[in-house]
Parts: sequence; structure tokens; C-alpha cells
Amino acid sequence: MKEMILDIHSTNIATLKKKIENRDAKIGVIGVGYVGLTLSVQLANKGFEVLTIDKDHFKIDQINKGNSYIEDVSNEELYSLVKKNKISASLNMDIISSYDVLIICVPTPLTVNREPDISYIEEVSHIISKYIRPGQLIILESTTYPGTTNEVILPILNKSNLEVGKDYFLAHSPERVDFGNKMHTRVNIPKVVGGVTSQCLEAALTLYKQIVEVIPVSSSTVAEMVKLFENTYRSVNIGLVNELAMLCNRMGINVWEMLDAAFTKPYGIQSFYPGPGVGGHCIPIDPFYLVWKAREYDFSLKFVELAGEINSNMPYFILEKLTYLLNHNNKTLKGSNILILGVAYKKDISDYRNSPAIKIIELLKKSNASVSYHDPLVPEMKLSSKDGHTLYSLDLSVNNLNTIDAVIIATDHSAFDLDYIVENSCLVLDTRNATRKLKNKEKITYL
Ligand SMILES: NC(=O)c1ccc[n+]([C@@H]2O[C@H](COP(=O)([O-])OP(=O)(O)OC[C@H]3O[C@@H](n4cnc5c(N)ncnc54)[C@H](O)[C@@H]3O)[C@@H](O)[C@H]2O)c1
Repeated sequence: MKEMILDIHSTNIATLKKKIENRDAKIGVIGVGYVGLTLSVQLANKGFEVLTIDKDHFKIDQINKGNSYIEDVSNEELYSLVKKNKISASLNMDIISSYDVLIICVPTPLTVNREPDISYIEEVSHIISKYIRPGQLIILESTTYPGTTNEVILPILNKSNLEVGKDYFLAHSPERVDFGNKMHTRVNIPKVVGGVTSQCLEAALTLYKQIVEVIPVSSSTVAEMVKLFENTYRSVNIGLVNELAMLCNRMGINVWEMLDAAFTKPYGIQSFYPGPGVGGHCIPIDPFYLVWKAREYDFSLKFVELAGEINSNMPYFILEKLTYLLNHNNKTLKGSNILILGVAYKKDISDYRNSPAIKIIELLKKSNASVSYHDPLVPEMKLSSKDGHTLYSLDLSVNNLNTIDAVIIATDHSAFDLDYIVENSCLVLDTRNATRKLKNKEKITYL
């Protein structure tokens, strides 16, 4: 009897591996935002049949029509994969039993108290536990605190009475893509993979080896920690240069000149630049996941918390600097017309989630300044749910620019005609060193 059970278990992994290697494995990607859609396209390009599943009717409808809604996936690429039946989309989770691999790419935001909100992961895990069947591989790609796969997902899936590592396989492989980065893309960024058991690792490695270089680690918890370390490393270093920017400002030193010179050192230093604060789905959020988990172990992550504090203070610093500059022009912030140039959280992308520009706009409004923005990639933007306002990108006509008292360059999109903008503005506060190549810098002040 025991031998028979062993046989069934080894059949499960052997069959799954063979299906993956032969591209016969059907893959379901749950949550098709930025991460899920790019992953689906990558898998489909390698010959897998991919079902994308999301709660969002708009996204499902767009995918089925072959329309992309993110910059890193072109309409042509998606359309051709949909036409070849390599990618399809559904709102329905009840068909997941017929898929061999399920990859979870749902959001992992913070609660209002800046604690991890893993409710999306829990919700999807409960649904999977209803439909799971022997031979399936479940992978979490969402960023989360170390222990989530083992301590949260595993107990939920175990309610199915199937045994992990034998009947089904569970692993974590964090998404490391940097959207908008043309040099380091999904195709050449190695994938860190950790399994709940060695069989789980083997199954997940078999899948990811088909699409990219893999870095196996000893557990799903290590893989989760790797991702949080990577983003915390960025947050801490950005915090350091932001703090130096504030000191240089007080000392009358151009921080950009200083950093450019420092980064010529060929070893022991890596380039990070200051800015109006951090944004997006990773840097402002992930360190808080680590800080929260560390507390469970009576451990306070001092560097990490301090960097978070400095980075979230940057919009306030920008406001102080703007007030000072307006004063010098005999103007007050109250009643001034301020234009924010670029609201996406980084260059050349349309994603403005958690963008520091949002905080700057909110602070300006609180000070009774009149605020508008221009961003060719973000035609309209919603402020926080508290505010509920929708703003629309302002056309940069000479007439419009002439009504503006100060321009804050918050994002350095390549599309900006900075010569034209500076020439037709009275005052420019450049938080990104975007105007460094301009000849006439008279109206410009740098962070
Ligand atoms: N965007 C990035 O740059 C990036 C990079 C690396 C890692 N990550 C991580 O990857 C994860 C996903 O990020 P994203 O940027 O793709 O998020 P996103 O918000 O763009 O997409 C998540 C999708 O999940 C869907 N969803 C939510 N609950 C669902 C459910 N129960 N069933 C089906 N679909 C559901 C949402 O509708 C949404 O379309 C997060 O953990 C994030 O931290 C993001």
C-alpha cells in the first residue's frame, strides 16, 4: 500500500515536469496587472497556453480583444498571442482545476496603519483550496513578508486534504522586474525560486527554467526575504542621498554635482539619486512589510524605518523650498498657480500609484495654492480616495504657462521639451536634475 502511494506521488511530479518541459502544461495567472500580464506574455511567447484571470472586467475585456493596458506589453504582441489562442482571459476562478500551474500575482498593499494587507493573497488561496487537484503547482509571485507562503497559504491549501510536496506543489518566486527599464527586462533578470519542500522547488524550477535563468534558494521564506531585502536596499540608499540633498541644500552645495563626481569611483559605490520622494508599488511599501514582520521577533529595523521617514518627508521639503523661492519673488504659496511637471512615479511610465507628486499636490492644495499638472503619459489622475478629485493633464500652451507662478519638475519624462517649458515659465524647481543640459539655467533651482 505504502509503495503504491509513493508511486502515485512520484507520478505527480514526473507527469507535471514532463508536461512543463513539453509545453503541454496549461498555466493560469491570477491577477493580471503589471506583473501578471507581462508574465503571461512571457510564458505564452515560450509556447505555453495561458489563461489570465482577474476580477477586473475592464482588463479581461481588453485582453480578450488583444489590447494591452501597460507599456511593457505592446498591442501587437498581445493581439498575436490572443489570436494564436496562447492567451485567453476570464473572470471565472472555477475553471482552475484544469490548469497545471497557477501563479498568483495579486496586489499586496498596506493597510491604513501601514501594516501588510495580504487579504488578496488569502482570498485567492481560499478559492484555490476549493478547486485544487493532485499534480498542480501553485506559485506566489506577489511581494510579501517572509513566511507568507508557509504560514498563510499552506494552511489554507492543506484544508483540501492534499499533501504539499507530494500531491501538489507550492513555491514562491518574487517578481523583480523594473517596468520601463529597457536594459534589464523579464527576459534577462534571473528568477529567485524557493519551494515549501524540495519537490516543490524542483517543480517550480522546472517551470521557470523554460523562460529565464533561475536562482534556487532553500525555502519559500528565503525567496520572500530576498525580494524584501532588494527593495529595502534601494529604499535605504535613496534615503541616504535624500538626506544628503537636504544637507547640501543648507550648505549651498549642488548635490547633483557632488553625486556625479562620487559615482565615478569604480568600486564600492552604486548610483542612487535624490528626488521628491519614492513612489510605485514597491519602494514605499515593501520595507514596511519587513519592519512589521521583524516586530514579531522583537526586532526593530532602525535603518529601514529611518529611510522610510526621510523618503516620506521629501514632499514636505519640496514644499518648504518652493515657499522660500516664491517669497524671493515676492509671492506667497497661498494663491499661487503651481504646475507639477510629471506625475508618474518614475520616468517614462504611466503608473502614478503612490507617486510623490500626489503628496505634493495634496500639500499644495492644503496651502491654498492652485495646482495643475502636465504629464503626457497620465492624461487624468485621481487623488487619494479621501479627496476623490480627478485632475486632467494641462495643455502646455504659452498662454497656460504664462499663468503659472512656479513649475515643479517631479518626473523627468524624456518627452518633455524642457527648453520650451523653462523659457515660458517664471520659476522652475527641478527635483530630478532633468534640466542639467539646458544652457540658460537662470530661472531654475535644483533640489
Ligand atoms: N508593479 C511593479 O513594479 C512590481 C514589481 C515587482 C513586484 N510587484 C508585486 O507584484 C504584485 C502585483 O503587482 P502589480 O503591480 O501587478 O499589481 P496590480 O494592482 O497592477 O495588479 C494586480 C491585479 O490583481 C487583481 N486581483 C485582485 N484580487 C484578485 C482576485 N481575488 N482574483 C483575481 N484577480 C485579482 C487586480 O484586479 C489587479 O488587476 C504585488 O505584490 C507587487 O508588490 C510589483
